[in-house]
Amino acid sequence: MALVFALILSCFIGLTQGQLRVGFYSQTCPNAEEIVSSVVREAVASDPTMAAALLRLQFHDCFVEGCDGSILIDNGQGSERQAFGHQGVRGYEVIDRAKAQLEAECRGVVSCADIVALAARDSIALSNGPSYDVPTGRRDGRVSNSTLADNMPDVSDSIEQLKAKFRQKGLSHKDLVVLSAAHTIGTTACFFMTDRLYNFFPGGGSDPSINPDFLPELQATCPQNGENSVRLALDRGSELTFDNSILSNIRDGFAVLESDAKLYQDEATSRVVDSYFGLLSSVLGPSFETDFVNSIVKMGQIGVKTGSRGEIRRSCRSFN
Ligand code: HEM
Ligand SMILES: *[C@@H]1O[C@H](CO)[C@@H](O)[C@H](O)[C@H]1NC(C)=O
Repeated sequence: MALVFALILSCFIGLTQGQLRVGFYSQTCPNAEEIVSSVVREAVASDPTMAAALLRLQFHDCFVEGCDGSILIDNGQGSERQAFGHQGVRGYEVIDRAKAQLEAECRGVVSCADIVALAARDSIALSNGPSYDVPTGRRDGRVSNSTLADNMPDVSDSIEQLKAKFRQKGLSHKDLVVLSAAHTIGTTACFFMTDRLYNFFPGGGSDPSINPDFLPELQATCPQNGENSVRLALDRGSELTFDNSILSNIRDGFAVLESDAKLYQDEATSRVVDSYFGLLSSVLGPSFETDFVNSIVKMGQIGVKTGSRGEIRRSCRSFN
């Protein structure tokens, strides 16, 4: 009896993350997850770069005011999404499309914050990454202010700053490495490469940690005083597939972003990178994909609003 109870309890704990719950909408809007999936599938089919955009969107949502859809609010100058730290974030119209379909099917039930989390999950699966259950039940926040995004992690942050910014959100140095590996898909604008290629601190020039075979390639794509909006793959050679090649690139000096390169210049974080390339790691683990799922589910709990806090927005771009 006690054993049965313990089994039921552990099952329950497995499904409940914080106050979120897998299948939160199973009674109130049974097709909710399928609606989001189909909208994301269509969006990615017509624009393959959208998967990466939607994965990044969840990170930027969760790191400011918690995973509460605050980044989606579009109330002009001073709204959070205008913040410098959110430069280049895309995918808002995909969230709007899912929301419109959800409102048509079950009015006032599914939060924008949950749509963001589900869309990131679907984007990973569409990129051949792992499939996983998303605990849901987030409610939408009622605050949007660009100053709140001042502390977003930045490409030129030191590894200590990056670790501290993740720690402040309840995420470990291992989560930092594993979640940065989301850069296995997507691209960056040359805008974020200028300092690393031509004005590296200290001393100017280029970042000495860039593999000498890679530097000319980066500089050819992003010439000094060239077009800032030109884009290059974050995971050289594998920008549309969710895999751990980003980690071998980081290890070998082929990281594109400065913040990714720094993950291999610190003892604790480099040990996490190396853990996926041990002689027997393909057999004995740890598995990058399993670790990634655990970390992104954890990221999805940051500052969530449940119960009577927050609201279910009618439109993701504005407060009710
Ligand atoms: C550790 C701190 C991080 C920094 C400094 C950082 C920085 C950046 C920068 C500068 C870009 C290029 C943006 C652009 O030009 O559009 C980017 C792209 C991206 N980031 Fe991060 N990032 C970090 C962590 C994360 C995390 C935790 C995730 C998700 C779990 C993530 C997911 C992505 C994705 C998928 C892209 C590609 C977006 C696209 O192709 O449109 N990043 N990141
Ligand atoms: C945003 O926050 C700043 C600093 O707290 C404040 O001065 C400003 O009025 C706020 N803006 C809006 C639109 O609420």
